[in-house]
Order: sequence, then structure tokens, then C-alpha cells
Amino acid sequence: MSEYQNIVILTGAGLSAESGLSTFRDKDGIWAQYDYRDVATPEGFARNPAKVLKFYNRRRRESSGVKPNAAHIALARLERDYPGNVLIVTQNIDPLHEMAGSKNFIHMHGEIGRKLCAHCGDRFDWGEEELLVESKCEACAKPGGMRPDVVWFGETPYRMDEIYEAFTRCNLFISIGTSGTVYPAAGFCAAARQVGARTVELNLEPSEGASAFHEARHGRATEIVPAYVEDLIPRASKG
Ligand code: APR
Repeated sequence: MSEYQNIVILTGAGLSAESGLSTFRDKDGIWAQYDYRDVATPEGFARNPAKVLKFYNRRRRESSGVKPNAAHIALARLERDYPGNVLIVTQNIDPLHEMAGSKNFIHMHGEIGRKLCAHCGDRFDWGEEELLVESKCEACAKPGGMRPDVVWFGETPYRMDEIYEAFTRCNLFISIGTSGTVYPAAGFCAAARQVGARTVELNLEPSEGASAFHEARHGRATEIVPAYVEDLIPRASKG
């Protein structure tokens, strides 16, 4: 019997940093270059859609050239080799978990590889084309509504019912590469502790919520995540 029957893992921008994608709140992060109210809110999109689309067209280009790093690969190995259930809940909109081979994951903030029509609500894969204000929806054919299928500040993250249901059965919660500043994800450690789960933070430095975790390992994700996974996988399951 594995020690933890149900593992829930929350990941944030710090997991993809060593794949070359910017984080948000580090000193050179995205929110040091842009005001989130202009580019990551419904109000910003209504006010200046061209500015929002320019921001996401750039992030779409940046995400298409990156590769999973050793931390993403270690998490895919954990899902494959660990005798219990492993669910990744990611705040990241990049496709690096799926590229690393993870199968059981939820993109709670949406995906940069998907687009959404604000008029009819239909969603589509977003290829290499640039999203423009005059881009027409493939379903309702209306222009002016195409946007990235990502969750903006003030909008409701995706699949929260499934996420909270997973926490009711959680025995181990691991938070990786997130500053723990944005809800509802920032409240996941408390949700895990409420059901008696063990809580671990793997991060470059102590996050805002560091004191709430039972255990913490600090360092670069490509070093501390593979090491933690190696320690977690029972000897019997090691290939
Ligand atoms: N290895 C491990 N951790 C790292 C690394 C690294 N190489 N580099 C940075 N970190 C850590 C930082 O110390 C920080 O605590 O990753 C965290 C990144 O925090 P944020 O930039 O705030 O990113 P995140 O927590 O994912 O932001 C949450 O905020 O803006 C919204 O929607 C956006 O999903 C995002 C959410």
C-alpha cells in the first residue's frame, strides 16, 4: 500500500522558469513589465482589445518554442511509477506538463493553446495564427470577440468542482513554483490541511504561505523536484 493514496500537486510559473518562460512576480517578471489590469482583465480587453491580443500573441509565440524541463519530466514519472493517484492542478497556461507526458492534470487558468469567442462562448485550438481584433469566430463568424482561452483576474478558474472534490480525498499536497499570492490556488494548502493531508512546498524561496506547510525544500525546480520524486517513489516501484 503506498503511503499516500491520493497526491494533489499545484504548479505555478516557477516550474516553467527553467524552460525559459517568465514568471509573474519575480523582479524581472511579467507584472514588472505590464500592468495586469491592462492585459489580464475583462475590463482591459473591453478597453483596448488590441493591446491584450498583442500581449497574448507574444506569449503564444514564446510558449510554442519551449521544452519541458527536468521538473516537468519528474512529475510525469511520478504519475507513471507511483502506486497512488497523482493529479496536477496547474496555474500555468503553457503545455509543458502534457509535453512531459503527464496525463492527469487540470489547467485551472486555461491554456495559451486555446482560443475563445467572447460573443458565442465557443472554444477552439489556437494554432500559430495571430489573434486580431478583426479575427472572426469560426462558429458565429462575428469579429471582435476572439480572445485567448485563459482565466483573467476577476474571472472564475476552470474545473474548480473537480479540484475541490480531489482535495476531499487528498493525503499529500505538493505546491511547486508558485508565490501563493493568487486565490483560489493560494487557499489549496489550507484545504489540504483541513482533510489531514501532509503539505509540502517546493520553491526557489519561501512563498507567501510558506509557514502553513509541514515541509519545505527550497531551490531550483529542476533540482529539488526530481530529488523529491526520487524520495517519494517506493523502492518497489522504481523501474
Ligand atoms: N524553481 C523553483 N521556483 C521558482 C523558480 C525556479 N527556477 N523561479 C521562480 N520560482 C518561484 C518564485 O520564487 C515564486 O515564488 O516561483 C514562484 C512564481 O511566482 P509567480 O511569479 O507569482 O507565479 P504564480 O505563483 O504561478 O502566479 C499565480 O498569478 O498572475 C497570475 O494567472 C497568473 O497563474 C498566475 C498566478
